[in-house]
Amino acid sequence: MTDRWTPQSWRSKPAKHVPADYPDAAALERVEAELRRMPPLVFAGEARRLKSLLGDVAAGKAFLLQGGDCAESFKEFAADNIRDTFRLILQMAVVLTFAGGKPVVKVGRMAGQFAKPRSEATETIDGVTLPSYRGDNINGMEFDAASRTPDPERLLKAYGQSAATLNLLRAFAGGGYADLYNIHRWTLGFVADSPLGARYRELSDKITEALTFMAAIGVTPESQPDLHRVEFFTAHEALLLAYEEALTRVDSTSGDWYDVSAHLLWIGERTRQLDGAHVEYMRGIMNPIGLKVGPTVEPDELMRLVDALNPDNEAGRLTLYGRFGADRIAERLPALMQATRANGRQVVWAIDPMHGNTLKANNGYKTRPFDRILSEVRSFIEIAEAEGVHPGGVHLEMTGQNVTECIGGARELTEGELGDRYHTHCDPRLNGEQALELAFLVAERLKTERLSGLQHQAAE
Ligand code: TRP
Ligand code: MN
Repeated sequence: MTDRWTPQSWRSKPAKHVPADYPDAAALERVEAELRRMPPLVFAGEARRLKSLLGDVAAGKAFLLQGGDCAESFKEFAADNIRDTFRLILQMAVVLTFAGGKPVVKVGRMAGQFAKPRSEATETIDGVTLPSYRGDNINGMEFDAASRTPDPERLLKAYGQSAATLNLLRAFAGGGYADLYNIHRWTLGFVADSPLGARYRELSDKITEALTFMAAIGVTPESQPDLHRVEFFTAHEALLLAYEEALTRVDSTSGDWYDVSAHLLWIGERTRQLDGAHVEYMRGIMNPIGLKVGPTVEPDELMRLVDALNPDNEAGRLTLYGRFGADRIAERLPALMQATRANGRQVVWAIDPMHGNTLKANNGYKTRPFDRILSEVRSFIEIAEAEGVHPGGVHLEMTGQNVTECIGGARELTEGELGDRYHTHCDPRLNGEQALELAFLVAERLKTERLSGLQHQAAE
């Protein structure tokens, strides 16, 4: 692991879930060369800014909210989809900021989240076997030989879509859409007339009242531009290393290497082998990075990964996303938190309550029960508190669209309703209403934490 790192040093390591079956190697190389000439999507200074905000999360002073599609797709690419997920994140951030009394770091699982690791390399339907769908930047979802063949041109299309998505997100974040004075306008149409809509309206009334008071005493968007905009960051799983490599650049201000395809990149549960290509690539970039931590990770293995990925123990560099499943978290997480805490490792502990709670409904749909998602988040906060660790954030698969992919929630979506609007290209996502409900429930816990913290202070 001490060998010299280069953007391509991962190529000499075993790489899981990286496609090796492009039929035309020369075409792939041409595309990679073209990507190397493309402008960066993010600036290294922005990645450093996110790292410093995540350092605040590691120190217990802020909370991370990360969410978006399981997989972005070419077909669902539309301004309305981007706007709806963005405003859902704003709404959830308002709820969490208000309850927790701490800033919320906003990160979209957007503008680059295409490639998917698949448990089976092939798929068989009616006796026909084809390569599995691996994400729109690799192959197509349609079940025919042509679309399932990896096509390098898709990398360019994914880059272009990421650039356009990021451009719109930047415009929304800085151009006035995210202005706190717009708080009432973010409500999604289908949420407006639900109990969650009413609850959100109540909260936004309170905030509007506070804003009026503050304006009266001179705190206005003119004097305080942060009222008018948000800092918004992007993230995706760094799975397709050839793409990430082509977008790895030296930052001229620091001389360090950054992956300029997104602000934050993470290593998935299936590609976190210590001697594998993904850990090798990620150790050399200076972005803030994440690591998914599933139920099979042992404390000593986790410590080796933490040391490989964050050798200088820099706060904000590494976020650990637990993803155990509601029924396993209590048995797995405490020892892992004890390990990072006892060894003084400055990491963010966050929870991904989606990936350990997937099941197949009786009618064949892949789904996730809302109550299990919620239960894993609750356990996460309780365990973190018991271990003296800050429950730093949540990582969700969600969409602003009114989809029917996860069962349960306030409207008690049933298995029978899954077929109504099941649009995901990969895993089932929370819809806008379910995501907002989750935010309120997490907010209750954070509020309890905040109030008990205040009591400790008063007693001191
Ligand atoms: N800029 C501040 C923040 O991000 C306040 C803010 C402006 C805000 N618009 C927002 C907070 C929308 C949450 C949601 O915290
Ligand atoms: Mn997923």
